[in-house]
Amino acid sequence: MTPAPGPALRSFEAWRRQARRRLPRGLFDYIDRGVGAEIALARDRARLDAATITPRMLQGDRPVETGCEILGTPMAAPVVIAPTAMAGLVARDGEIALARAAAGAGLPFCLSTQSITPIGAIRAAVPEARIWFQLYCWAEMDLTYALMRQAADHGAEVLVPTVDTPVASRKDWNIRRGFGMPFRWRAPTVIDIALHLPWACRVILPELLRGGMPAYGHYPEGSRPTLTRSAADPRVALRPALSWEDIARIRERWPGRLLLKGICHPEDAERAAALGADGIVVSSHGGRNFDPCPAPIDLLPEIRAAAGSRLEVMADSGVRRGSDVLKYLHAGAAGVMTGRLPLWGLAAAGAPGAAAALAGLLQELEEAMALSGLRREDLPGLVPSAPEPAA
Ligand SMILES: Cc1cc2nc3c(=O)[nH]c(=O)nc-3n(C[C@H](O)[C@H](O)[C@H](O)COP(=O)(O)O)c2cc1C
Repeated sequence: MTPAPGPALRSFEAWRRQARRRLPRGLFDYIDRGVGAEIALARDRARLDAATITPRMLQGDRPVETGCEILGTPMAAPVVIAPTAMAGLVARDGEIALARAAAGAGLPFCLSTQSITPIGAIRAAVPEARIWFQLYCWAEMDLTYALMRQAADHGAEVLVPTVDTPVASRKDWNIRRGFGMPFRWRAPTVIDIALHLPWACRVILPELLRGGMPAYGHYPEGSRPTLTRSAADPRVALRPALSWEDIARIRERWPGRLLLKGICHPEDAERAAALGADGIVVSSHGGRNFDPCPAPIDLLPEIRAAAGSRLEVMADSGVRRGSDVLKYLHAGAAGVMTGRLPLWGLAAAGAPGAAAALAGLLQELEEAMALSGLRREDLPGLVPSAPEPAA
């Protein structure tokens, strides 16, 4: 029942349109939309659209190269699949498909705490994956530390605590459409699913036949929110009083690279560096959390200056085309994360769709670099991969 792969190169909008046809409307909107009046969502795009790069001509034989290294992870281009909750609802084994697509493209995959498939199963299915692990701190820190150990045991290379979500943001249309963990089984939700039976047969039915329901795979047994049961256990609620002290304790316990996701203020960047973080992601969470959040592209230059050489500064939100990636790099980012684009590819055509959507983005990035005259050495945030050690 895997959908046929789409053509190799299509626009974000084409993937999105196809995804809209295949997914229940509640799930599509959960991915697609922003928070509040959706001003941040629109602003992220408007500011990226407004950004320009004056091209340099006649670059001779300076080749276009996108290969680089971020936080010790070599990658084919400065692009990481962003952590997205419940990607396993978009397609069956959706997180495994994303990990596979990322590995095929030579990119890291950042797995969400709120994935359906846990990291151990992804590692087993895609041993070659370069996995980064996004951490939502739970109210009970000992459970959070246990989750970090699980991530380390399965070879997560970078820990990515998300710091912009001390509480879950309220998204009105999710409530209206009854979408969430748990699903609200009302007539419109049932009709929505009935109208998307191929999706239900691929994603929900196999779980039903095994006597279960899709659930957050990292949550402790017995406290696991599923499509039909909410997280009643207060120990695994998002930690409402998340603080710098929490991050300091995480730093002490995590031996690898630490990347704080959702830093927007230069003083917070300073503090992250002082605390021993290795990097930050400047992000509006894809316009999904705090509607007055400025567009990351506008924040980057000041944050880059504050961080100096102490932090790798990444950015996300609003990446739709390769030229958006180049705009973030030009504004000082070492690399970008992309959330919705691979999800649309996944919804449209499974793992091959996610792979094709990523391949399209990387090809557009190369074209944008060629046309801009900008090369890797002109983009200050971009660090070429270390040469392979001599045999
Ligand atoms: C459906 C969806 C779920 C998300 N879930 C998470 C999450 O679990 N943890 C997190 O740190 N960010 C989450 N994000 C935010 C992304 O990591 C990323 O910041 C954002 O999608 C970037 O914007 P873009 O979608 O325009 O590329 C989610 C985004 C989407 C679209």
